Amino acid sequence: MNKNIVIIGGSTGIGKAIVERAALDTGNKISVFSRQEELMASNFKSLDNVSVHFLDLEKIDANEFKENISTLNNIDILINNAGYLVKKDFEKLSHQDIIKSYQINVIGIMQIVQATIPFMTNKGGHIVNISSMGGFQGSMKFPGLSAYSTSKAALCSFTELFAEEYKDSKIKMNCLCLGAVQTEMLETAFPGFKAPHTPQQMAKYIYDFASSQGDFLNGKIIPVSLSTP
Ligand SMILES: NC(=O)c1ccc[n+]([C@@H]2O[C@H](COP(=O)([O-])OP(=O)(O)OC[C@H]3O[C@@H](n4cnc5c(N)ncnc54)[C@H](OP(=O)(O)O)[C@@H]3O)[C@@H](O)[C@H]2O)c1
Repeated sequence: MNKNIVIIGGSTGIGKAIVERAALDTGNKISVFSRQEELMASNFKSLDNVSVHFLDLEKIDANEFKENISTLNNIDILINNAGYLVKKDFEKLSHQDIIKSYQINVIGIMQIVQATIPFMTNKGGHIVNISSMGGFQGSMKFPGLSAYSTSKAALCSFTELFAEEYKDSKIKMNCLCLGAVQTEMLETAFPGFKAPHTPQQMAKYIYDFASSQGDFLNGKIIPVSLSTP
């Protein structure tokens, strides 16, 4: 593939599986970000084309982030996979719960996109935001997810607005609204629920989409789910 790829939130679950899938194409160069730098270093120590970096979406140092991605020169793909889920009855949500959900799931991602644009302007690139079916208009909703799912809906909306503003550039942005995937996040929120997909299956879908669809789609909100309709 020979792509320069940045993955935000690659330490666990789906993000870790995306890194492992992307690294199989040995021509790729992958920079992975999350708070758990040591865990990522240990997870990916055998992968020569992966570098790991600390990033906390609640306290972004844009200069440090830019310095870390500058080694990639042009960035072909940015996958914004990081996410935070708080499940609480609406009246029990604290102001901090809501702020944290929006900071990690939307505002932090917008800041990361701002910092990445200068590294995509020459050749162009594909930005893929990872949202949730919970944030997809008209989908089935679940109690306790008002902070999480509204923030994921905002991420969908950001995708449409960014695509409009940058439609004459070579940068494309799309948003995947995932259905249930068997990760720790899902197991904590819905104990005992059996998801139809493993992180590895979803990671392959996301990687293939990010690698191939930027030339065809822009500003699209795509449900990735077996649920009907
Ligand atoms: N699993 C599902 O059923 C499902 C369904 C729909 C959508 N999704 C979405 O898919 C994405 C991956 O979820 P997952 O299930 O794989 O959950 P996960 O294992 O909990 O992964 C979440 C990732 O986000 C990162 N992250 C969280 N807070 C962060 C922060 N402050 N700064 C930087 N990175 C942060 C985590 O890294 P650190 O903890 O190392 O910082 C981790 O790499 C999320 O956006 C989630 O909303 C999942």
